Amino acid sequence: MDKRIKLLDSIRAIAVKTPTNDVEVPESVVGFGTIEYKAQTCSACKKCILACEPAALDIEQTLNMPDYLEASIPADGFRSKNRETLVNLLQNLKQDSDTGEVQAISVPAGLPGYGSIAWSAEQCIACNKCIEACPEDCLTLEKTYKLPEIIGTIESPPPVTTPKDWEPFIICFVCWECSHAAADLAGLMHLHYPATIRTVRLPCSGALEPGHIMTALENGADGVLVTGCLLSECHYGGDSPKAGNFMQYDFVKFWSDIFEEIGIGGRLYIDFASAAMGIKFAEIVEDFTEKLYKLGPSPIPKKPEVQE
Ligand code: FES
Repeated sequence: MDKRIKLLDSIRAIAVKTPTNDVEVPESVVGFGTIEYKAQTCSACKKCILACEPAALDIEQTLNMPDYLEASIPADGFRSKNRETLVNLLQNLKQDSDTGEVQAISVPAGLPGYGSIAWSAEQCIACNKCIEACPEDCLTLEKTYKLPEIIGTIESPPPVTTPKDWEPFIICFVCWECSHAAADLAGLMHLHYPATIRTVRLPCSGALEPGHIMTALENGADGVLVTGCLLSECHYGGDSPKAGNFMQYDFVKFWSDIFEEIGIGGRLYIDFASAAMGIKFAEIVEDFTEKLYKLGPSPIPKKPEVQE
C-alpha cells in the first residue's frame, strides 16, 4: 500500500474526535503542507501535473469565475497576455451585467490554455516539484496541513473507564548512542522506574517515523516517549539544524499538534539525555507517567487480538 495512504489510515485509526483546525507545519518538516493555486495566471500548460509523481494534481475543464472576477492585474501585467485579456474581459462583463451567481463555466473540449488545476491534499507530498515546474508562478506551498479536509469526520468511541489498578503503559524510543545508555544507568542506579515502560532502541532519534508512533498507540500504548542525545550532541549531525534529534524535535511538535486536534493530545513527548544522565532519564519517565495518570487510559480503540 502507498506509504502516504497508510499514514492517513493510521491517523484515522487512532483519531477519537473530528479535527477542526489546520495544523501549522514547522519550517524544517518536509512532506506536509498545502498547495495554493493562482488560477488567473495559469495557462493550463499541465507542466505541474506532469512533474507531480504522486498524482496529486489534475486539470478540471472549468474556469472558476470568482478567481477571475477578484483578480487584480499587476502594474506590468500578467506574463500571459491571453490570460490578462480574459481577466479584463470577464471583469468588464461583470460590471456591465451583474449576474452574480455564476461559479464556473465549462471549457469546450479541445480548447487548450484554459482550465483549473485541482489539488488533492491526500496525495500531495509537498515535494515542491510542481512549483518548480510552473512557468507562471501559479503555485505556492503554504506550511499548513489541512487536517479537517484530509481526515474528515471521525466517529468517537465510547468513553473509557479507568480500572482501579491501572498503570500507564508507555513505549519509549531510545537512541542507541545516548538515551539508551541513560536508561541502562537509571536501572543500574536502582532509580524508581514504572514497570509498565517498554524501551525500543533506534540508531538515532531521527530514525523514528510517524508510523512507528501510531503503531504503538494503535496497539495499546497510553503514551509514546521519544528520547535522544542532548540537542547539539546527536551523533548524526551534531549541532546542524538537520541533525537527527533537532529534526525529530520539530516532527514531534508537529505530530503533537495533530494528536491534539484528533483528541489524543498529551500522549506524545520528546526529551533528551546524555549517556551519563541516568537521573535525568528517570525524571523524564516519571514526569511523563504523571501526565498520563492525569489523562487516564488511552481512548484509542484497541486492535482486535489475532486468533491462533
Ligand atoms: Fe542520539 Fe541522534 S544519535 S539522537
